[in-house]
Amino acid sequence: MSSNALPYLEDMARRYAIQAVMHDREGNFGEAVKYYKNAIRVLTKIIQLYPDNGLNTIYKDWIRQYKKRIKDLESLRTTLVPAGGPKPLGNDEEDVNELVLKEKPEVTFDDIADLEHAKKAIREAIIFPTKRPDLFPPQLGWPRGILLFGPPGCGKTLLAAAVANEIDGVFIQIDAASIMSKWLGEAEGKVAKLFRKAREISAQGKPVIIFIDEVDSLLGTFSTEVGGEVRVRNQFLQEMDGLLSKSKKMFIYVIAATNKPWKLDKAFIRRFQRRIYVPPPNKEARVQLLRLLTKNIKLAPDVDFELLADMLEGYSGSDIRDIVMAAHLRVITELFEKNGGEGDPRPVTLEDFKVALESIKPSINKDLIKVYEAWYERFKAE
Ligand SMILES: Nc1ncnc2c1ncn2[C@@H]1O[C@H](COP(=O)(O)OP(=O)(O)OP(=O)(O)O)[C@@H](O)[C@H]1O
Ligand SMILES: [Mg+2]
Repeated sequence: MSSNALPYLEDMARRYAIQAVMHDREGNFGEAVKYYKNAIRVLTKIIQLYPDNGLNTIYKDWIRQYKKRIKDLESLRTTLVPAGGPKPLGNDEEDVNELVLKEKPEVTFDDIADLEHAKKAIREAIIFPTKRPDLFPPQLGWPRGILLFGPPGCGKTLLAAAVANEIDGVFIQIDAASIMSKWLGEAEGKVAKLFRKAREISAQGKPVIIFIDEVDSLLGTFSTEVGGEVRVRNQFLQEMDGLLSKSKKMFIYVIAATNKPWKLDKAFIRRFQRRIYVPPPNKEARVQLLRLLTKNIKLAPDVDFELLADMLEGYSGSDIRDIVMAAHLRVITELFEKNGGEGDPRPVTLEDFKVALESIKPSINKDLIKVYEAWYERFKAE
């Protein structure tokens, strides 16, 4: 391999590490482990191919840290308990427990740039009725199903994770893809158990949020369905209906997120009365995002958020996070190369951002946005 591969591999390792940390923060532990492993694989490769590389000691340290984190996460995964504490849940404990988050994700609404309409809709749908049930007459009810949809990397998972912190309740996060593979053949029974458990918890007076991320993979599409998925979907629809009919004092909400809403069928969509579009960040949101992401980073005076936000048109929130991390990493790398890691890094300059921008392409284009808008237009009122 030519020596040119080094920057490429470093970039790859960095991208994996960013993904790992991001999923880790949001409580997507399975995904986090996957990306940590990928980062380790690439870093190991770098050390192997370039034994004289000056940064290898740092990379070895990273590998050690990632390995430790994987170990922690894997043990965490098998011991997840409800947010209220380590109290056992009863008979279905084993099945459901692994889906209930013990440690709430750290993110709150304040850590999310913009998306005000989405936050407002969630407050109206979940937080108001939970905090002041007396204001919501039971015969009127309120929406139990909330669908977050929009292009990748714009804050859907983040919003749902923040809800866990905005309410004092139990947050059950379901990784749709793994349910389908892990519970193959018995998934619909598990779905029933899951909702039964949710009702039990809720009967004790705690609100329960069932969050199904990437819900399109749980329900599949008609064309690719193979038996099991039809049953899971039907079970799911039945449980959703149950929530409405037994609505009296029960605070159970189902939040589903997808970046492929068109894969959902009508019956499913109908159960989610609140459909919230999570759009790509507009200029103001990009400024806010930059401000949030650089909160703890020293910036040079030439870094102008307005200007930078203009340059970031078409970039998703997650792209922008990658860019800030890449610009910051340039400064850190330089500190290690020049000073062996001693002293303070120099401030991050506009030039650092420009270099980062060149290596990270925008993931959102106008045509894609039109597809989401058209979908929304069609299902808004149904
Ligand atoms: N509005 C935002 N405020 C703060 N950070 C954001 C925002 N949007 C995106 N991000 C950053 O991008 C990352 C990815 O966002 P998130 O996982 O919520 O995207 P998503 O909409 O769920 O995407 P996907 O459809 O691919 O699942 C977040 O962890 C966060 O770092
Ligand atoms: Mg997501």
